[in-house]
Amino acid sequence: MNTPVSDRYARATRTLRGQATSDGAGVRLTRVIGGPALPDLDPFLLLDEFGTDRPEDYIAGFPEHPHRGFETVTYMLDGRMRHRDNHGNEGLLTPGSVQWMTAGRGLVHSEMPEQQEGRMRGFQLWVNLPAKDKMTAPRYQEFPADDIPEVQPSAGVSVKVIAGELGGTRGPISQPATDPLYFDIALDAGASWEFPLPEGHSAFAYVFEGEADVGEGSEARRLETHELAVLGGGNVFKAGASGKPVRLILVAGRPLREPVARYGPFVMNTKQEIMQAFVDFQEGRF
Ligand code: FE2
Repeated sequence: MNTPVSDRYARATRTLRGQATSDGAGVRLTRVIGGPALPDLDPFLLLDEFGTDRPEDYIAGFPEHPHRGFETVTYMLDGRMRHRDNHGNEGLLTPGSVQWMTAGRGLVHSEMPEQQEGRMRGFQLWVNLPAKDKMTAPRYQEFPADDIPEVQPSAGVSVKVIAGELGGTRGPISQPATDPLYFDIALDAGASWEFPLPEGHSAFAYVFEGEADVGEGSEARRLETHELAVLGGGNVFKAGASGKPVRLILVAGRPLREPVARYGPFVMNTKQEIMQAFVDFQEGRF
């Protein structure tokens, strides 16, 4: 017996657009996850898209600020951003690069544009850590564009595999706690693609160029540029590009199902741990 379409294919269980906001020292960005409409999608705590040609929107950057208890993932599409932390780590994010930073027990860092003009575009995603890993030592997984494999699973389909596996090709990122998948997908006009998502993962798709039809048959939903779909109801992700090429990210991770206590750049399990984070930060223990 065939599985009914509605059980097999993931559909958009909800869709939303981000909210314009600013962060850091006044960087304009769009908050898609982490705002009032979608406070989180366990294990994801935040998704920001930044994209502008105007230096005044990004030039102030993100001066020194702390993080504790989770991971920040920066995926650069355009532009150059220099990061430095209080443990002596420093690096330059260039177009197409990814930085998967496990803040763990804490660090203080800055993320500043290394350009005076031109386009700055990309995403920052926050991924939660389980209680047992929140106080782990900080760790960086940082890869330039050349280290991110690009796969052509079928005609007109190209996928950059940042995390997770596609047809035997593994992305460079490893994080056993949430077993993340992070794909940057490009579809030519008229192309479509199916992919089985890991069982039990939370998943979303976010279109950043063009329009994509997500889902199968009568349950397909058209996502416009800057629209996110939370996926559910089936495990097979399907996306198609109708009239013009489309680019989207597909992100999935194993939910942690733990209590979340969150305040600004600290994400712990209890209020007490958040207060401890403040004390530790103020007393220079990051
Ligand atoms: Fe940061």
